[in-house]
Amino acid sequence: MSNYHIKHLEEYYQVYRKSVRNPESFWEEIAEEHFLWRKKWDNVLSWDFKKPEVKWFEGAQLNITENCIDRHLATRGDKTAILFEPNDPNEGAEHITYRQLHHRVNKFANVLKEQGVKRGDRVCIYVPMIPELAISLLACARIGAIHNVVFAGFSANALATRINDSDCKMVITSDGSYRGAKTIDLKGIVDEALESCEGVETVLVAKRIHSDINMKEGRDKWLQPLLDAASDQCKAEVMQAEDPLFILYTSGSTGKPKGMVHTTAGYMVYTAYTFKNAFQYRENDVYWCTADIGWITGHSYIVYGPLANGATTVLFEGVPSYPDFGRFWDIVEKHKVSQFYTAPTAIRALAKQGLEFVEKYDLSSLKVLGSVGEPINEEAWHWYNDNVGKGKSPIIDSWWQTETGGIMITPIPYVTPTKPTYATLPFIGVQPCLMDEKGEELKGNQVEGRLCIKFPWPSIARTIWGNHQRYKETYFSTYENKYFTGDGALRDEVGYYRITGRVDDVIIVSGHNLGTAPIEDAINEHPAVSESAIVGFPHDVKGSALYGYITLKDVGESRNHDNLRIEINQLISDRIGPIAKLNKIQFTEGLPKTRSGKIMRRILRKIAEKDTSNLGDISTLLNPECVQDIMDNAL
Ligand code: WT7
Repeated sequence: MSNYHIKHLEEYYQVYRKSVRNPESFWEEIAEEHFLWRKKWDNVLSWDFKKPEVKWFEGAQLNITENCIDRHLATRGDKTAILFEPNDPNEGAEHITYRQLHHRVNKFANVLKEQGVKRGDRVCIYVPMIPELAISLLACARIGAIHNVVFAGFSANALATRINDSDCKMVITSDGSYRGAKTIDLKGIVDEALESCEGVETVLVAKRIHSDINMKEGRDKWLQPLLDAASDQCKAEVMQAEDPLFILYTSGSTGKPKGMVHTTAGYMVYTAYTFKNAFQYRENDVYWCTADIGWITGHSYIVYGPLANGATTVLFEGVPSYPDFGRFWDIVEKHKVSQFYTAPTAIRALAKQGLEFVEKYDLSSLKVLGSVGEPINEEAWHWYNDNVGKGKSPIIDSWWQTETGGIMITPIPYVTPTKPTYATLPFIGVQPCLMDEKGEELKGNQVEGRLCIKFPWPSIARTIWGNHQRYKETYFSTYENKYFTGDGALRDEVGYYRITGRVDDVIIVSGHNLGTAPIEDAINEHPAVSESAIVGFPHDVKGSALYGYITLKDVGESRNHDNLRIEINQLISDRIGPIAKLNKIQFTEGLPKTRSGKIMRRILRKIAEKDTSNLGDISTLLNPECVQDIMDNAL
């Protein structure tokens, strides 16, 4: 019997057990029955978390775009694959059928080839949420080029770092982008970034806002005329199972961003299978994930997972507040959306706006609501459940990461009974465990510890681009023979998991994963700054916001602190992006340090959280006197 579509709890437990007892035969069966292979594998899985090395479906050959597009043409050629909803509702939606998608991806792939892109080359994609974004990913995959999507809200500096780290020879972008009532000069940001990127030979520019931009002779080319001239037939490159499909950067707690490398076959199988089950997608459903394709959520659950299932996937260019705070619900009504997947920060922002924005619309098409990116607090969960789902649509609180490629812990809607703030049960094939500080596994229920995964799943990232050692150190060195997630979690009396948050120096702001180190580096560039430390504190919309403690070089300096705050935030915005700006900046004379000179963030975090009743033992600090001063002047 096929286990591709789980429909009730009994079946979940039965299939889960099978997937854990005999992972290889389980995944082989899923892969065999539901995908198109040019050649089958010689070996389902080989792995060693010590090296670390993981290979799935070795020896198999395929092209993911044949799975996402070509194989649907016979039965779903006229079905909408991508439903594009533009920033301005008056512009009207665009329905791109599977047949049209096939033509457009082929043309784009031919353009890439004509411009000299070859199998294995890296292509940076810095494009807003327009159809060309999804199409450019697929066009790369069609010819075996490795895409490196950079969220089109990142600064020139962040873009340049990501282009150079992975040696991209091409950048795909647009003349600009819409964001609510504003426009953003994307091409200007690319030009600035490329001043420090010598390897980039070609920039393809899509027209979106029709602004007057500068085109650099010999380097920059308008996309549309090239597409017009290209053939709409392009044979799919036959790829090996473990060939890289893409690189996607994620912040770490230290140093530069990590280019997570995802490969082809395992990623395809896992994103497709999780999509089908975690959203209970059925043939005529319209599925909408509000994330940007610049994040892993968009890669896996706007593009690859849905298309591999022949689904209709909505691609929304705009923001939840434009033209007003009813926009999400307007789109749900207009396109009769069945599955809606968003982030807690969006839910909290909308919950603040009053119910009239929700109640105006007919949301009866909704069957499944999803949440991802950070822990969803109880209040937001209930607001979502009561007002959007009307108590009828199960909420799937799905936990996963850029590194995991696909959803790891989630209720299966209509299968797993939900519990507010709990991601509930591991997905099929996922073997989580909780570890204590001494490195022992916590057995049984009602325990709390650090979340690890004991066994490989098909879409685990295989390495960090150009730095396998860092991959090993970050994920496989904390606990022997286990993948360490960086999150804390608890397991309740029935085995449900609740994610309690990061245990490292990553802070999640509005669903964006931010490392403290790169932000501190940016602040420290300011000539007046001596030292800085960033911590998170609870924020009712963003989930967490950033609190910076900064010491200045010249303490007696009479510079206006408000101006300094503006300059520091501008620096952060330039170096990383506006999402990393600090909500609060406290200038202080000292930062609490251990005798070995390490800043005690734990204390700073407590002060930022206004929870100073129990700061623990501070007498061992190098400079305990600064703590009282920081507390007295806390913001
Ligand atoms: C981190 C990964 C993968 C989607 C987007 C984020 C946090 C993610 C949940 C959830 C509690 C969550 C974790 C994780 N996180 N989903 N449902 N409940 N926390 O990807 O940027 O790689 O961030 O997001 O802390 O480690 P990412």
